[in-house]
Amino acid sequence: MTTPSLILRFRVLASALLLAAAAAGVYAANAEIKLGPSCVTGECHGDVVKAEFLHGPANMSQCEPCHVPVNGRHEFTAIATGRDLCLTCHEVEEEKAVVHGPFQTDCVVCHNPHGDSNRHFVKGGAGAGSCLLCHDNVTQDMTHLHGPVAVGECVVCHEPHQSDHKGLLIEPRATLCTGCHIDVAQEIEGALVVHEPVETECAGCHNPHGGTSQFFLPTEGADLCRSCHEDFLVKANEAKFPHGAMTEGKACRNCHAPHASSQQGLLSTDTSGLCLSCHDKEIHRENDTIDNVAAQLAEATSLHGPIREKNCVACHQAHGSDVASILNKPFPREFYAPYEEGAYDLCFECHDSTLVEQEKTVATQFRDGDRNLHFLHVNREKGRTCRACHAEHASVQPHHVRTEVPFGRWSMKVEFTKTDTGGTCATGCHVPYAYDRVKPVAGAPAQ
Ligand code: HEC
Ligand code: HEC
Ligand code: HEC
Ligand code: HEC
Ligand code: HEC
Ligand code: HEC
Ligand code: HEC
Ligand code: HEC
Ligand code: HEC
Ligand code: HEC
Ligand code: HEC
Ligand code: HEC
Ligand code: HEC
Repeated sequence: MTTPSLILRFRVLASALLLAAAAAGVYAANAEIKLGPSCVTGECHGDVVKAEFLHGPANMSQCEPCHVPVNGRHEFTAIATGRDLCLTCHEVEEEKAVVHGPFQTDCVVCHNPHGDSNRHFVKGGAGAGSCLLCHDNVTQDMTHLHGPVAVGECVVCHEPHQSDHKGLLIEPRATLCTGCHIDVAQEIEGALVVHEPVETECAGCHNPHGGTSQFFLPTEGADLCRSCHEDFLVKANEAKFPHGAMTEGKACRNCHAPHASSQQGLLSTDTSGLCLSCHDKEIHRENDTIDNVAAQLAEATSLHGPIREKNCVACHQAHGSDVASILNKPFPREFYAPYEEGAYDLCFECHDSTLVEQEKTVATQFRDGDRNLHFLHVNREKGRTCRACHAEHASVQPHHVRTEVPFGRWSMKVEFTKTDTGGTCATGCHVPYAYDRVKPVAGAPAQ
């Protein structure tokens, strides 16, 4: 995987060979020596050339290219110090942007100059052992190690000498991980939305070496997201009506995919599927119970437009809201509410407000002749709110008219019968009344 960054200078090697000489016999330090064909004899320095993999000169029992005898005695100096010794034969390619500290000073902190049990004579072995000589803390306190780290393959990601990339990485951070994690690369490639850091920095969320959880995440839940979305979270936390989904279970990941998605907003599925994954049961709170929305929809024959489009966030703020029921816009919660501008902004985001504004109109179907029955019910001091008649999500009656509506402690029945030109409403509010757009009945009780 590494391209050779060092080139041999054979020129130097060749001249060094001419100096070849060696000692015969055992010498005390500083004793005079006779130069023989090699320093390696039956008695002497056999250990230097015993390794399984021998360094070129040592393999040829050449010592003088590196060790120079002083005044013909059994005393040696190196022909050069530090890395210069090695650079008499090896040449470092042009210096790169990031140079590993020890590479700049002394090669023998990592390499055995004579030979070793691995091809590159790395001290401590070819695996992590050599790196851990100095970096003994990279896997400290980790209970889960990343595959390549667990088997000691540091150099599958890092250059030991120098690199063009920060962190001595062998390739740009954007492609380092996907080179092995092809499944994640494919997930990104086919996606509609890709989470920005996934394209630039996998290590923004995963510790590349390991961690204390399965996926080596530095923190769990919302804290993982907080590291980059602090502003967003501060805003969400200010909502008057927070949403339990933000904090319970997997927090943000209750709804969001971490890498990529086929849904806008990086959602793990369409909003209806997401929301109903929790709202498929009643949720009991201290003071009230939240309805089972999945059950509402399952029984219904008349689904509200945005529900048919599986778009729950057309009306709700998934992260919490200043409006009750985490709605996007104001909508009265009561049975009665004075009609005022802005009170029904939620509905008038999509519907035309003339529906309730004009006493006489044909802009609504809920009229007797041209007498606007929406105006009649809603647009007054003690107005009946939309929820007095319509279920916001779905119902078994046409126009998603409710089957019952809470009125204090009484759950009042609402029976709606539709005709081609109008309808009849039988409720606890009044005697059954009919309306007809073509032949007005003018408030006469239904037959
Ligand atoms: C490529 C250069 C090089 C060659 C060739 C070489 N040495 Fe060395 N040798 C060194 C360096 C550098 C050290 C110091 C090692 C250290 O600090 O880890 C050393 C150290 C030694 C030592 C001190 C003890 C030890 O092992 O650290 C002996 C003995 C020795 N060499 C013998 C030899 C003999 C004998 C040969 C020839 C067969 C030889 N060397 C060839 C570079 C070389
Ligand atoms: C006298 C010349 C000479 C000196 C000085 C020298 N080397 Fe070498 N080195 C060689 C030769 C020759 C080879 C064998 C080249 C080959 O097999 O392709 C070699 C091979 C190596 C290899 C193995 C390369 C491979 O691809 O397998 C390493 C690692 C190495 N040297 C490190 C060092 C280090 C570290 C020093 C300094 C302590 C050093 N060399 C000093 C001549 C030298
Ligand atoms: C931090 C430890 C470290 C230092 C310092 C270091 N090396 Fe290496 N070197 C390695 C490791 C590990 C490998 C094996 C890389 C691999 O397996 O891909 C290696 C490989 C090599 C190779 C063979 C592959 C290649 O790049 O050609 C040579 C030659 C080499 N080193 C020479 C040197 C020289 C010369 C120096 C000093 C200028 C030096 N090294 C300093 C760790 C080090
Ligand atoms: C002799 C001690 C020593 C050995 C052995 C060693 N390192 Fe280092 N390493 C250092 C020092 C000192 C630094 C800090 C100076 C620097 O930035 O290069 C460092 C820094 C690093 C960095 C951070 C570089 C950056 O710019 O962010 C990485 C990554 C690294 N080493 C990886 C390795 C790997 C992989 C190995 C094994 C092949 C290894 N080191 C072996 C001493 C060592
Ligand atoms: C899967 C790839 C991968 C492997 C394998 C790997 N690293 Fe790293 N390492 C990284 C990345 C990515 C960084 C972050 C670099 C940055 O942010 O600058 C890093 C950072 C480092 C650093 C810099 C300081 C730190 O802790 O963040 C050191 C030192 C380091 N690694 C050493 C090692 C050692 C030692 C091994 C083998 C035990 C190893 N690495 C294995 C990818 C890897
Ligand atoms: C050299 C190949 C290689 C590279 C590069 C690599 N990984 Fe891995 N990664 C693996 C292997 C192998 C596993 C273990 C797979 C298994 O157990 O199913 C793994 C496991 C993981 C896991 C745990 C997956 C699970 O299902 O438990 C995560 C998370 C991960 N890697 C993230 C990363 C990140 C982030 C990077 C880049 C910094 C990266 N990997 C780079 C090979 C690699
Ligand atoms: C925004 C944070 C974040 C970023 C950035 C990120 N991940 Fe993840 N990743 C996660 C989370 C959270 C999980 C756990 C998913 C789960 O619990 O199912 C995960 C799971 C994984 C897994 C194991 C499950 C699987 O999907 O196979 C792998 C492998 C993985 N990530 C690799 C990567 C790679 C490669 C990158 C960069 C291309 C990356 N991640 C970027 C947050 C992130
Ligand atoms: C490493 C930084 C980082 C982390 C950690 C992070 N994000 Fe992001 N996220 C970004 C950036 C950068 C963007 C794009 C700019 C923006 O919209 O703020 C983004 C965008 C998003 C988007 C909008 C996507 C779209 O295109 O509509 C969502 C949703 C999101 N992040 C959710 C999360 C969640 C959930 C988590 C925690 C699992 C998380 N992020 C963790 C950096 C991060
Ligand atoms: C109940 C589901 C749900 C949960 C839980 C959730 N989100 Fe979202 N998020 C959404 C939806 C839906 C959108 C799409 C925005 C829209 O259309 O209203 C979104 C959009 C976003 C966006 C991009 C748009 C924006 O408003 O800036 C970010 C960033 C984001 N979410 C972050 C988070 C973070 C961080 C968390 C955890 C604290 C989180 N989300 C929890 C459903 C959720
Ligand atoms: C992880 C489970 C979970 C998911 C997913 C979820 N919710 Fe909730 N939701 C809750 C819980 C728990 C409550 C009750 C606690 C609270 O927020 O007051 C709740 C309450 C609500 C309420 C009533 C709020 C109030 O204050 O009266 C509405 C409305 C709501 N959710 C809509 C949605 C919508 C829309 C979605 C999809 C975007 C959704 N929920 C996704 C768990 C979830
Ligand atoms: C057209 C707007 C709209 C859409 C679309 C919508 N809702 Fe609602 N939702 C409301 C209104 C309005 C309320 C408050 C009703 C009330 O106060 O009686 C509400 C209330 C709720 C409640 C609280 C019920 C309770 O008993 O307090 C939940 C949970 C809920 N919606 C979930 C969903 C889910 C899940 C979806 C998507 C399948 C969805 N909503 C789509 C308007 C909508
Ligand atoms: C996001 C847009 C949107 C919002 C907000 C919205 N609606 Fe609707 N509404 C629709 C669509 C789309 C239809 C379906 C029109 C069609 O089928 O032609 C619809 C239809 C209706 C119908 C008629 C159903 C029928 O079968 O004739 C009623 C009643 C209704 N909405 C009431 C409300 C009420 C009350 C509110 C406020 C709580 C509201 N809507 C908010 C989009 C919306
Ligand atoms: C007194 C009961 C009642 C109230 C209160 C009420 N509606 Fe209606 N609404 C109906 C009936 C009945 C229909 C069906 C008319 C038909 O098609 O015959 C209807 C139809 C609709 C329609 C379908 C289009 C149309 O105008 O015919 C919309 C949209 C609508 N209502 C929205 C609202 C909104 C928004 C509110 C609150 C501001 C509201 N309604 C309050 C009874 C009511």
